[in-house]
Amino acid sequence: MAKSDDGARKRGHNTQLVTAGRRPEWTGDPRLGGGIVNPPIWRASTIIYDNIADLDARSKDTHDKLYYGRRGTPTVWALADALTVMDDGAAGTLLFPSGVAAIAAALLALLSPGDHLLMVDSAYEPTRSFCDNFLARMGIATTYYDPMIGAEIAALLRPNTKAIFTEAPGSLTFEVQDIPAIVAVAKAHAIATILDNSWASPLLFPAMAMGIDISMMSLSKYVGGHSDAMMGSLTVNAALWPKLRQNCYLLGQAVSADDAALMLRGLRTLDVRLERQGKSALAIANWLAARDDVGEVRHPAMADCPGHAFFMRDFGGASGLFAFTLKGADKAKRARFIDALTLFGIGFSWGGFESLVVPADPPRSAVPWTGGDALIRLSIGLEDVADLIADLDAAFAAAEV
Ligand SMILES: Cc1ncc(COP(=O)(O)O)c(C=O)c1O
Repeated sequence: MAKSDDGARKRGHNTQLVTAGRRPEWTGDPRLGGGIVNPPIWRASTIIYDNIADLDARSKDTHDKLYYGRRGTPTVWALADALTVMDDGAAGTLLFPSGVAAIAAALLALLSPGDHLLMVDSAYEPTRSFCDNFLARMGIATTYYDPMIGAEIAALLRPNTKAIFTEAPGSLTFEVQDIPAIVAVAKAHAIATILDNSWASPLLFPAMAMGIDISMMSLSKYVGGHSDAMMGSLTVNAALWPKLRQNCYLLGQAVSADDAALMLRGLRTLDVRLERQGKSALAIANWLAARDDVGEVRHPAMADCPGHAFFMRDFGGASGLFAFTLKGADKAKRARFIDALTLFGIGFSWGGFESLVVPADPPRSAVPWTGGDALIRLSIGLEDVADLIADLDAAFAAAEV
């Protein structure tokens, strides 16, 4: 879905979150008067044409037109348009049934057999798995690099390097990358950059404005925000937009109008949830950091987190996901700690309104994880901080038994 030229881009982010994607032709019918606040759920597989001339005309340019269900309907276009508007400098957004599907589509669009990819060592594990299995099978080589590499990434470039994948902060260990330094190297060598921006969203890290070519998000996290729907997005700059859109069409990727409506609903309140969850998470991270039985706290806003200076320079704030280690603990003690929690669900994913916990064992190949066996990731929800702290406090006591 290419960007709307309704003028919303000039407004503040909060106004954009409220107004984006609500074009009159998507929210109402002039013959009925007025407009519905939320774009209705337009479900479709088949689209009926008036006649053959109509079919021929719409087949010439299927974009933004009702053509066939897989190409979307106004509910889906509204979500894509809103995500494009939020990322200043973007040309369009493509939607996928999951974040992983979006990552796979971006890599497949940019890479061909014989090419080389630079992948951050702190990437989400299934991203690594896609490279090690699918891309390797296609004859595409992946080199994992230190998340803290910055401009030194130039030394890893090969003549066939076609893409650099970044994730900031990194999965499980939260290193914040020097994205501008990496982008500068990539641009100097005409190499495409992809960022997994699921943690920050464009509200906290304006990926396109920072020079990233393709900004990916798992909308299943903060955008959806209610742990009841899955989706992924690729927001793309003008240079790569035609290629990415065609690739998405070739792969047959499509999302349902029902899921798009859930994501749009989540998007409207993204800023207030991020602000509140970010504030609560930092309060809890500080409380953990002051304890003797905690080893490291990995939270980008804390001074000893790798890349903290880049976080302070480039990010507008923190979301609610971070990790910490139980000092000197093994996996059994970690399990006792997690099992004792009552307000934190043990579950994958994050970014919902409810707090979650998982044991974290970072897969690494470029730089080993040296933080021990007892890394724990917390996703802080909308509960009262005092209750979450009391729950954690009780778990520390229970883990000692
Ligand atoms: C950083 C990151 N990127 C991508 C994904 C994949 O998103 P999805 O679960 O929507 O496929 C996840 C999921 O946990 C994630 O944590």
